[in-house]
Amino acid sequence: MYKPKERLRHALAPMAPWTAEQAARSRLFSPLELASGLVLEDRTWIPAMVPWRSNEEGVVTPEVLAWYRRFAEGAPGAIVVEATGIREVPSGPLLRIGHDRFVEGLRRLTDAVREASRGKTRLFIQLIDFLRIRRRPDPERFFSRFLRITPQHRERLSQLAADPSLESADETVVRERLAALDQAGRALVLSEREREALERGDRERVSDVDVPEIRELPATLPGLFADAAARAARAGFDGVELHYAHAYTMASFLSRLNTRADGYGATLEGRLRLPLEVARAVRDRVGASFTVGVRFLCDEAIDGGNDVGDACALGVALANAGVDFVSLSTGGKFEDAKQPKIGEAAYPYTGRSGFECMPTALSDARGPFARNVAKQSLVRRAIREAGLSTPVVVAGGIGELGLAEAILERGDADLIGVARQSLADPDWPEKARAGRASEIRRCTYSSYCEGLDQKHRMVTCQLWDRLVTDEPGAQTTDGGRRRLIAPRWER
Ligand SMILES: Cc1cc2nc3c(=O)[nH]c(=O)nc-3n(C[C@H](O)[C@H](O)[C@H](O)COP(=O)(O)O)c2cc1C
Repeated sequence: MYKPKERLRHALAPMAPWTAEQAARSRLFSPLELASGLVLEDRTWIPAMVPWRSNEEGVVTPEVLAWYRRFAEGAPGAIVVEATGIREVPSGPLLRIGHDRFVEGLRRLTDAVREASRGKTRLFIQLIDFLRIRRRPDPERFFSRFLRITPQHRERLSQLAADPSLESADETVVRERLAALDQAGRALVLSEREREALERGDRERVSDVDVPEIRELPATLPGLFADAAARAARAGFDGVELHYAHAYTMASFLSRLNTRADGYGATLEGRLRLPLEVARAVRDRVGASFTVGVRFLCDEAIDGGNDVGDACALGVALANAGVDFVSLSTGGKFEDAKQPKIGEAAYPYTGRSGFECMPTALSDARGPFARNVAKQSLVRRAIREAGLSTPVVVAGGIGELGLAEAILERGDADLIGVARQSLADPDWPEKARAGRASEIRRCTYSSYCEGLDQKHRMVTCQLWDRLVTDEPGAQTTDGGRRRLIAPRWER
């Protein structure tokens, strides 16, 4: 995991000691109506978090139900269900919505949240598409099998070795000679993409238009997203969040790094074209009264990527297209991810951009708390200056009531995204409303939950996962060593 050079440890600010009356009068606990007509009872928002509770079939398991039921017991204004795959392809233990057979399980999920939150919490589901990424290969297998030998390899190799016979040598010989090259030799003979495939694992890009499925994304994705949104509506969700953030397909279309020359990249207009077409296709399918929001980045936080100026333009365009909310995140990209070990895949939260996405207490002078809200507020301001009232959700290191309230008071945001603090204590909204904020178990912003996420292990919180559980039917993992949900709040 990335750690800023300074390594300054930031202490938690004391939790604002709100009474129940103060909570009732706060902006944080005031309602908000979206353009779809959906009313959120308050401004507390749990953004998407993949907890790795599904299975190889991508269905709603008892563990998925228990996870969301537990958040719903705290009755936040909204929960966004984790990134959920829209395609009918195996996706590891990622939750899926790419076929009608998933609707029944998802219906159980929406029922569970409604029941546990006493009908208070609005429930959205994040819809994701992602491109293929391979594990970092064993070099021996890469050179003997995966690498496609081209005339350029032969030519460069024969020049490097001053051996013209390599131009026409048997392919096995060429492979052996390539495998024997040192780092400098590889840099001369392999292309940049081939070196990346060797050193980090091959990763598809939206600009790989020579791959038919990638060239055809503008034709296929609007329908896939629209079908998934229609299923979400049938399953009883209050809306969908289109995942246009982090390292995935739609964020890659929006990125300055998108060089597609077919009208779906290169210019701002081109980069926005597919994301707008997807949003329109979804809206056309589900109608005006079903909530459709987007999550995208206020800053990609990578070299050559989108900055907050781009994000302002994207925000205005998406708001203009009629999305019901804009949720902002930061970073989380593959471009600066750490080199994975052989046999493992790169993970987009291991570099600096990943740190910006999920800032930790061990930080630089800026610290983790509301770290990117200044940038996120610029996106909101741009949307307002364009005459649009689309609500904006901010996130990143916001876990303290006074901080959340100040953000709303300044007009930096309309809704407060609280991810890891909600994992640490899903009852925090209820505790705050009850005037018992001092009982909130505070997130320490360590890298524990993110570390589990990186290994695709069931995500838990170190503040409670070893606490003994005597609740009947309590779920555990790692041979009973880790409990899977936070202990019940004994009022
Ligand atoms: C375990 C874990 C899984 C996450 N999964 C998602 C996800 O599926 N989609 C998404 O947009 N963000 C995801 N995030 C990012 C969070 O939504 C949030 O933006 C980030 O954690 C910063 O907020 P926080 O400081 O309140 O935790 C995840 C974060 C964590 C810790």
